[in-house]
Amino acid sequence: MKVLVIGGAGYIGSHTTYELIRAGHEVVVLDNLSTGRMGAIHADARFFWGDIRRKSDITKVLLAEEKTRPVDVVMHFAAKLVVPESVLKPLEYYENNVEGVRTMLEAMVDCGVKNIVFSSTAAVYGEPDNPLCSEDDPTAPINPYGETKIASEQLIKWVAAAHGMNYCILRYFNVAGADQSLRIGLDKDQLTHLIPLIMQSALGMREKLSIFGSDYPTSDGTCIRDYIHVTDLAQAHVSGAQHILDTGDSLLLNLGSGKGFSVKEVVDAALELFDFNYEFAPRRAGDPAKLIANSNRAREILGWEPKLSLTDMIKSDYAYRKQLQQDTD
Ligand code: UFG
Repeated sequence: MKVLVIGGAGYIGSHTTYELIRAGHEVVVLDNLSTGRMGAIHADARFFWGDIRRKSDITKVLLAEEKTRPVDVVMHFAAKLVVPESVLKPLEYYENNVEGVRTMLEAMVDCGVKNIVFSSTAAVYGEPDNPLCSEDDPTAPINPYGETKIASEQLIKWVAAAHGMNYCILRYFNVAGADQSLRIGLDKDQLTHLIPLIMQSALGMREKLSIFGSDYPTSDGTCIRDYIHVTDLAQAHVSGAQHILDTGDSLLLNLGSGKGFSVKEVVDAALELFDFNYEFAPRRAGDPAKLIANSNRAREILGWEPKLSLTDMIKSDYAYRKQLQQDTD
């Protein structure tokens, strides 16, 4: 298949591009490089600079590609995703995340592209009563980021119904790790995620890790999350796209391992490999105590199974970060 990856210079977009190319597909990347970087775009992907909020940037690519072979599937990764930032800048988040999706869908309708794969998030579940989340559970986001994803999901469903399109909406849980090539990984300036912050502590780039909260109603008092390796996640995009293309069905799937690890368990797993200091700190605002994916639907429909472990995520993130550190020395 031929896939347009919007946001292919970012963390998950670049990993999905790598997996698409490894599986023999043709990839075109559109990115405005606001948070992504040129070096993360696979050498075999064609790159167009452009902004998802400008329809002509998208139609230009779709029409240019049509001359050789039309794009079969558009994948969307061009969202803003920092939860606390979304609370401070809701207008920016709605403009980029929802207006961006609306513009992209309009361009797809204009150019007759019928298949969309969309990155959504566990943040749509908010603070659920049942921490093992299934796709049919109620959604109740507790921040603008999660709200923009629900709004986009709804928009995609309505547009798909009106224009005969197929969608594959993927709700990610806690994504971590780096590609085996170590050419791509999570390399933002301001990291907020647990595993990269642990690795920065292990590499001496920060004094110590703070564990946010030790009085949650969990076995050891720290929050429980479902961690998934970015390569496993990327492979689910390839299978999901192929599925909607082959069957004409639409999908809404959770992507997680189905296993929960507490923050303390992640810290202990990393301490088995590396030395670093940590402390217990107050709770961080907006953190639900426990969030785990029920990913049975992805297993049943796509035959998808995460292959990589928490240790694989820790080791690969460390190796990628160590290499970044050496490159800047
Ligand atoms: N944590 C720490 N110390 C840190 C960083 C994180 O203790 O320095 C804790 C957090 O408090 C939380 C857990 O580690 O309990 C995981 O936090 P992350 O920031 O790594 O990830 P989140 O669970 O907050 O966020 C993820 C996705 C979001 C999505 C959210 C849904 O990254 O995009 O899940 O809950 F919105």
